[in-house]
Amino acid sequence: MALRPLRQVALPDSAGAANDAWLAQLDQALGAPGADWSRICRDTLFSLWYPGLPNCDALLDDPGTSAATRAALLALDPRNITLEPEYYSEVDADKFARVKPLLWLWYSFDRTPAGAQNVDLGVKFRRLLAPRIFARCGKNFKCFQHTEFSFGYNLEVGDDCVVHRHVLLDDRGGLTLGDRVSISDYANIYSHTHSIVDQKDVTDLRTILEDDVRITYHATVLAGVRVARNAMVGASALATKDVKPFHVNVGIPAKSIRVKPNAPPEAYVTERQPRRET
Ligand SMILES: CC(C)(COP(=O)(O)OP(=O)(O)OC[C@H]1O[C@@H](n2cnc3c(N)ncnc32)[C@H](O)[C@@H]1OP(=O)(O)O)[C@@H](O)C(=O)NCCC(=O)NCCS
Repeated sequence: MALRPLRQVALPDSAGAANDAWLAQLDQALGAPGADWSRICRDTLFSLWYPGLPNCDALLDDPGTSAATRAALLALDPRNITLEPEYYSEVDADKFARVKPLLWLWYSFDRTPAGAQNVDLGVKFRRLLAPRIFARCGKNFKCFQHTEFSFGYNLEVGDDCVVHRHVLLDDRGGLTLGDRVSISDYANIYSHTHSIVDQKDVTDLRTILEDDVRITYHATVLAGVRVARNAMVGASALATKDVKPFHVNVGIPAKSIRVKPNAPPEAYVTERQPRRET
């Protein structure tokens, strides 16, 4: 293996300046007292999806606008769409209503030509929305495209966390990411589970990824699991139980195959189960 730190990549000045100007405008609009986030979401998506067209309302008022175009235009406004977590009975309707416009803006941006794989703009754009959605968002949050949340407002993110593409962060029962947590492509982190008898019987459990945890590609962490500091969940693993500090757990169900060589001595200690009274 070779050390391969990320390269610096610069955008042409004109593109960088255009991106910064748009993000500054959006930041100001979202931060204005009494800002209507649904309206801002709709207008932003209209500009991104239909560049050059002057007025969304004029198109909606025009009887000549086709039914499909009308439906597409209406769907730019978060008040006209539903998201799956809205149907969950334990949703805090007020909290969700507050963040829903920003969730819709986030997901929809990821599907635009300007968004999607566009790393430089995408990371800055999501960094602008995240602190307004999450319960807490630390500094330098770096999130790639097509991440999904449940409520968003039940998610706590520490400093310097990285979330790669196509990750599910289910914060239905609460989800805490410590500092410097890294979650790789297509990983799924859950915080709710269903009874095997009755699917409507749902248990919400806070899931915790402590400082310096790495969840690698295609891995799944089940509800209520605590992945302790510096631990790693290997590719495609299914973490059904807590992962000990500095341990590397792989497989289905995930089990420890090694302790990281940089672990302190206590990471090697095997915990004895208390003797059962007979
Ligand atoms: C967790 C991981 C690093 C383990 O690597 P490692 O410590 O070098 O482990 P080894 O390759 O020596 O394998 C040890 C044993 O575990 C098995 N194993 C390793 N990774 C496994 C996995 N993800 N799932 C199931 N078994 C695995 C190996 O087959 C081997 O089994 P054996 O002893 O029966 O032959 C690796 O599996 C992994 O998931 N890499 C992900 C890549 C990554 O870093 N992604 C992040 C990108 S941002």
